[in-house]
Amino acid sequence: MATNQDNTINNIPTLNFDAVIVGGGGSGMRASLQLVNGGMKVAVITKVFPTRSHTVAAQGGIGASLGNMSPDNWHFHFYDTVKGSDWLGDQDAIEYMCREAPKVVYELEHMGMPFDRNADGTIYQRPFGGHSSNYGEKPVPRACAAADRTGHALLHTLYQKNLEKGTQFFVEWIALDLIKDDEGNINGVIALDQETGNISVFQANTTVLATGGAGRIFKASTNAYINTGDGLGMAVRAGIPLQDMEFWQFHPTGVAGAGVLLTEGCRGEGAILRNKHGEAFMERYAPTLKDLAPRDFVSRSMDQEIKEGRGCGPNGDYIVMDMTHLGAATLMKRLPSVFEISKNFGNVDITKEPVPVVPTIHYMMGGIPTNIHGQVTVPNLEGPVDEQGLYTEGRIVKGLYAIGECACVSVHGANRLGTNSLLDLVVFGRAAGQHIIDEFNQTGRNYKPLNPRVLDFTQSRLDKLQNSTEGYNAQEVADEIRNTMQSHAGVFRTQALMDEGVQKIMALAPKVEQIHLADKSAVFNTARIEALEVANLYEVAKATMISASLRHECRGAHMVVDYEHPADYEPAPLGRNDSEWMKHTLWYSEGNKVVYKPVRKQPLTVDYCVPRVRTF
Ligand code: FUM
Repeated sequence: MATNQDNTINNIPTLNFDAVIVGGGGSGMRASLQLVNGGMKVAVITKVFPTRSHTVAAQGGIGASLGNMSPDNWHFHFYDTVKGSDWLGDQDAIEYMCREAPKVVYELEHMGMPFDRNADGTIYQRPFGGHSSNYGEKPVPRACAAADRTGHALLHTLYQKNLEKGTQFFVEWIALDLIKDDEGNINGVIALDQETGNISVFQANTTVLATGGAGRIFKASTNAYINTGDGLGMAVRAGIPLQDMEFWQFHPTGVAGAGVLLTEGCRGEGAILRNKHGEAFMERYAPTLKDLAPRDFVSRSMDQEIKEGRGCGPNGDYIVMDMTHLGAATLMKRLPSVFEISKNFGNVDITKEPVPVVPTIHYMMGGIPTNIHGQVTVPNLEGPVDEQGLYTEGRIVKGLYAIGECACVSVHGANRLGTNSLLDLVVFGRAAGQHIIDEFNQTGRNYKPLNPRVLDFTQSRLDKLQNSTEGYNAQEVADEIRNTMQSHAGVFRTQALMDEGVQKIMALAPKVEQIHLADKSAVFNTARIEALEVANLYEVAKATMISASLRHECRGAHMVVDYEHPADYEPAPLGRNDSEWMKHTLWYSEGNKVVYKPVRKQPLTVDYCVPRVRTF
């Protein structure tokens, strides 16, 4: 699109907006819609065309206790989400999300989102992992679905609405660095137009990071190639810590050997996981929810089957998902993309035979720390600590918000429930938008002149690549990061493996510093983009490996066999240690420092949901 230049700094165009949003996925576009509806001048900077954002991979549904197909209410959703998070989620944020869920889903419906329908015209809902009625009694249909293309439908709905209302999209741009003033406030971003290779300054009183996840730090991932943690890298370079990065979700059903996601909606519709004996083994691990237990639980059970020699295939290294009993008509109506993906990536006709699957990296529970308005908050390191040494005071980074997967609000704690990702995007995208409008209505438009040196840091990063004559290939370095993470931060972890992973990751620093850009061309130079992305991948990988090695317990997706307790241990058979470890990790890049802060235990209106044994 044409850039409406307002000014220049050192001959670099400067564009002024009331708010600039980095990321054109579900959370970014939900926030931008709120802002543009509130009369603000809004820019969305996005690496890919908005409807190609990774939100598309949340196939199976958006969670909301509509109760369209069986009785449900938000209290059950709240309980399931807290339990799913293994009590690391902040209960104020979880209550807010679950209470707002029906409202935001009906808003989407009224915007025209094409949900599947029941015979009575209400939104179709399917069961999903960890979602139950009556506090764990049985699975409940809570995932509001548009076939198995819910994220795709959401993106198209939000994009059309944003176009209608006048949001300005900067498509195929990559944001590089935040603009920070002397008081530590954020005044916008510097971004590069991939089409020309030129950079521009986006000055704004409010910057919203909505850059999604970073699943590409792992070798086998359901994530798109764009998921390189760009927002996290930008935050880290501005001195902001990353929260709870040890918690990464393995989705139970990536196509074996390909990584492409087969939605949990399959099991919502009745698919069954089987081992080499054809046994529906989840009945042994989770007698109540069976195949619809939460993802950390199902992924571990699958890995256990494989480890104990009951995996399928010539090497016994995968599990199969059986949908043959559902019938072709149901499969084609409810799971058309699953049919296509299984055919194209697994060479399997799911109407006739089971499809090979393995747990595959899918989602980052940690991220940039925020409050429930999406404001980025950092601990006051000069402030008091409690008797456990936790930093109890925080301060808001003025001008900066984070929403969606790149943020840690924290509603997912140590393990996210399926369908809560799309919900997180729209609930907190909307909430951040509303908070920004309220602030804007008080302060109005007042752009302060920027320090002419704001470009120096970014320019030096670009110059270093442009002037490089030797060094390491970006993709080879990225592969080393991915291989290390895959081997040292898997479904089952050991202390020794994690400690070794820290050594290996830290040893990559000189290579990350000395990337050689062989192709110096300006126009659509994807090699330059990939080289810039490696810096972001590396920060996320370090945060993950170091935070993981320091958490000496098992919780949610962080399963360290050294800390497992015997099966009869009360109250946490899997080795959760609430007295010492019910706390959030905060990792600082500078000095590789880790500090901790308390979990927010006080919900907004209901009683604290007390920790229990996590069985299903
Ligand atoms: O399985 C899925 O459809 C993924 C959904 C999610 O991650 O929430």
